[in-house]
Amino acid sequence: MLGATSHIAGRVLPAVGRVPGNVVEAVASRPGRVAAAGEVARRFGARVHDGYDALLGDPEVDAVYVALPNSEHVTWALRALEAGKHVLVEKPMALSEQDCLRIGRAAGDLVVMEAYMYRFHPQQRKVVQLLGRGEEGCGEAEGRGEGEGGGIGELRVVRAAFAYPTPVEGNIRFDPALGGGATWDVGCYAFDVPLWAFGVEPCRVWARFHGDPVDLGAVAVLDFGDGRSAVLDYSLEYGPRAHYELQGTRGSISVRNAWTTPHEDGVITVVTLDGVREEVVPAADAYELQVAAFADAVRGRRESLVVPLDHSVRVARVGEALIRANAVGDWVDLTSR
Ligand SMILES: NC(=O)c1ccc[n+]([C@@H]2O[C@H](COP(=O)([O-])OP(=O)(O)OC[C@H]3O[C@@H](n4cnc5c(N)ncnc54)[C@H](OP(=O)(O)O)[C@@H]3O)[C@@H](O)[C@H]2O)c1
Repeated sequence: MLGATSHIAGRVLPAVGRVPGNVVEAVASRPGRVAAAGEVARRFGARVHDGYDALLGDPEVDAVYVALPNSEHVTWALRALEAGKHVLVEKPMALSEQDCLRIGRAAGDLVVMEAYMYRFHPQQRKVVQLLGRGEEGCGEAEGRGEGEGGGIGELRVVRAAFAYPTPVEGNIRFDPALGGGATWDVGCYAFDVPLWAFGVEPCRVWARFHGDPVDLGAVAVLDFGDGRSAVLDYSLEYGPRAHYELQGTRGSISVRNAWTTPHEDGVITVVTLDGVREEVVPAADAYELQVAAFADAVRGRRESLVVPLDHSVRVARVGEALIRANAVGDWVDLTSR
């Protein structure tokens, strides 16, 4: 893995070891930080390399996990692909649609997946099932809202809110040069939801950001046409919230701990004309499930890749459009590309 001392490594590396058939073979930090990386390596019985390039030259490494600041994802995903490694890259895969497409072109037969871990959690799978997608999926939904008695009718509105107060000191999220800002940190989770839930792209988007020099938060609207929209808010400074709601013509589905995926049982509330019911989903480790799915894809089961590259391209396109909408102070049209 690249970025051995990152906070997120503390979640993902232990998960690798828990998935049968997978080991943390080697880790690397930036050049000159080999001592810190060595401590991480010892915890996982892995080799340590001095610098990311050295790890990419390790013939025993089949796949690379990129857990770097957002600004570094594209560079190191591309270098890992050039070195013939499969790539699991942290969200956001890239800060532009064009960069996602470059990664896609470079991948060839190698597996590349953006690490939206919540998509692998049984809570998320249950929501997709309730929406009418069926057993297999936490991929794109078809928006019918009638699966397995979900009974919410036609999906019309997605509301999503992700906020948490984040320490500022030394935090990559507050550095514009490192791809900081709420849009790419928490916002991308919020606009990921309407993209899979409606299964189509928005025709236009609107956003108002606050904060400087990075956006500390935003309110955004995505217009999907035919009366379908998403209303989002996200922030790096407001009190904790990780909630989305899918509003249909006959009811709604809401998820309280959507992205802070529950280690206790998850609760999905379904409100229909027949009343209110709660669907309880057993606790699970979304990181472990994500690693298992990625490893399956590397071994040839590509159907386990529930966050396909074209979805990542759409997420990046929407992120870019929201930034543009805030800058121009108006709707940004996405139909005339
Ligand atoms: N999926 C999730 O649940 C989740 C949760 C949190 C974060 N993330 C994503 O994971 C990535 C890392 O986030 P994090 O919270 O783990 O960040 P972090 O703790 O700041 O770690 C980032 C790591 O990147 C490396 N790095 C390389 N160049 C750097 C630079 N110029 N400045 C600072 N660090 C640099 C450092 O590792 P070395 O010195 O060891 O190389 C550093 O420890 C982000 O893309 C974030 O969006 C995902």
